[in-house]
Amino acid sequence: MIGRPSFLFMIKINLRKIKLSDKNYFAKWWRDKELLKLTSGVLKVILDQEVDKYFQVILENKNDYNFMMIADREAIGHISLVKRRNNWHETQIVIGEKKYWGKGFGSKAIRLLIRKAEKIGIFKIYLEVRLTNFRAIRVYEQCGFHKMRIIKHPNSKYLPETLRMELKTEFH
Ligand SMILES: CC(C)(COP(=O)(O)OP(=O)(O)OC[C@H]1O[C@@H](n2cnc3c(N)ncnc32)[C@H](O)[C@@H]1OP(=O)(O)O)[C@@H](O)C(=O)NCCC(=O)NCCS
Repeated sequence: MIGRPSFLFMIKINLRKIKLSDKNYFAKWWRDKELLKLTSGVLKVILDQEVDKYFQVILENKNDYNFMMIADREAIGHISLVKRRNNWHETQIVIGEKKYWGKGFGSKAIRLLIRKAEKIGIFKIYLEVRLTNFRAIRVYEQCGFHKMRIIKHPNSKYLPETLRMELKTEFH
């Protein structure tokens, strides 16, 4: 592949904790059909009250880790680690600002998240991805996730199956 333009390597990606004033980003991203098709698949327009409610849940949750991805000074996406059973955490990533897709920022953010997780003793990390989301699957593999199995969600009309991928690092 031809390399990425060099200026992209100069853009620094940081993760910072989510805060109340980030709500407007979510209001925009949760209504973006292109994004929704790659994630939940639910295209029904979400009301302002629903945005408030779901965002408040994220903000107040003490078990999970929610970070905004910052490229230089701009918030471009959201990455999370959600506590699950048996010491597992599930990660989810969305670069909401689409002009930043395909520039290497997704893999940088996931690597930063993994480093943060390991520092606080979280090593068992998995994710579930739509089977046709080839770009995401590629990025996850580059970051050390391995394809494990297909998970069926018979009650989910919009996402009836997902691919489970688990992180394998030197700690495993
Ligand atoms: C998925 C996502 C986080 C990836 O981050 P990104 O910054 O766009 O991806 P990167 O630039 O780091 O890497 C993309 C890689 O996928 C490859 N790729 C792109 N399209 C591809 C395709 N259709 N098939 C296979 N590989 C593809 C690229 O070539 C690149 O690999 P390379 O570094 O070897 O060239 C981001 O695109 C995103 O948020 N998308 C929308 C929401 C989403 O899909 N979230 C994931 C839900 S599970």
